[in-house]
Amino acid sequence: MSTVSATGIVVRYGANAVLHGVDFVANAGEVTIVAGPNGSGKSTLVKAISGEIASSGAVSVNGRDLRTYKGWQLAAQRAVLAQETTVAFPFTVADVIGLGLAAGATRAANPASLIEAALERVGLAGFGARRIHTLSGGERQRVQLARVLCQIWEPVSDTGPRWLIMDEPVASLDIRHQIALMDLARDYARAGGGVIAVMHDLNLSAMYGDHVVLMKSGRVVTAGRPEAVLQPETLAHVFACPLHPNMIPERGVFVLPQSALARPALAFAAE
Ligand SMILES: Nc1ncnc2c1ncn2[C@@H]1O[C@H](COP(=O)(O)OP(=O)(O)OP(=O)(O)O)[C@@H](O)[C@H]1O
Ligand SMILES: [Mg+2]
Repeated sequence: MSTVSATGIVVRYGANAVLHGVDFVANAGEVTIVAGPNGSGKSTLVKAISGEIASSGAVSVNGRDLRTYKGWQLAAQRAVLAQETTVAFPFTVADVIGLGLAAGATRAANPASLIEAALERVGLAGFGARRIHTLSGGERQRVQLARVLCQIWEPVSDTGPRWLIMDEPVASLDIRHQIALMDLARDYARAGGGVIAVMHDLNLSAMYGDHVVLMKSGRVVTAGRPEAVLQPETLAHVFACPLHPNMIPERGVFVLPQSALARPALAFAAE
């Protein structure tokens, strides 16, 4: 089965449960988006399905129980772009990307040329020798993307589809690079891999998501096609804020904040 699936996932931090029995499924060949408010459990879910934190419930990757994977097998089947990554040492960009190559199963006859190809794919050709800490925030994020891409370069392996799992991958990117990243994600899925991305941008989610999962307070509220999920009542409930989705024929659904301009201004003036 070409899925990442989770059933009845419960995650506790101390006495607090932050996921309360989450069911989740993502299909290879598709881009699956996880959206929801801050603190709703998106990163926790992503860590649970990636095998980075312990959870109760069942997780399977390509039909096989996550717990039966050895570390190297998991690293060859899925790569995770975390919400935040810090690099403690003054590595070069090529060193950082090389870590992805070393972790995964990509057999590169010429690692340097694969690293350069990955840099080109994220719009950073020629950056290999730069020290990572001298890059801008968005450039560093794209280096991390190049690293995870190198880990799972081919979207399909002999043990099934590979999974690109990304937690807020576009958060620090300008609009051109947001689109480039989402195009890359879609191409990866269309080539047979699977993509799971946590996103706050509902419009990018609608444009690129084949399947959208909305979370609130540690639970999945609804999941399905973007046009089915991004409905006014559902959005108002999930985000506690009036939002106005519009269907644009042949373009899909777009979400606007409702009457943002009509809101009375807050009075900041001193009495
Ligand atoms: N290590 C931890 N210890 C204690 N509580 C945690 C820990 N990690 C997360 N939490 C709590 O679990 C809840 C879910 O956190 P999570 O990071 O999954 O949210 P999120 O949906 O990814 O939010 P955001 O959009 O802000 O990234 C939050 O209330 C958070 O405070
Ligand atoms: Mg998060």
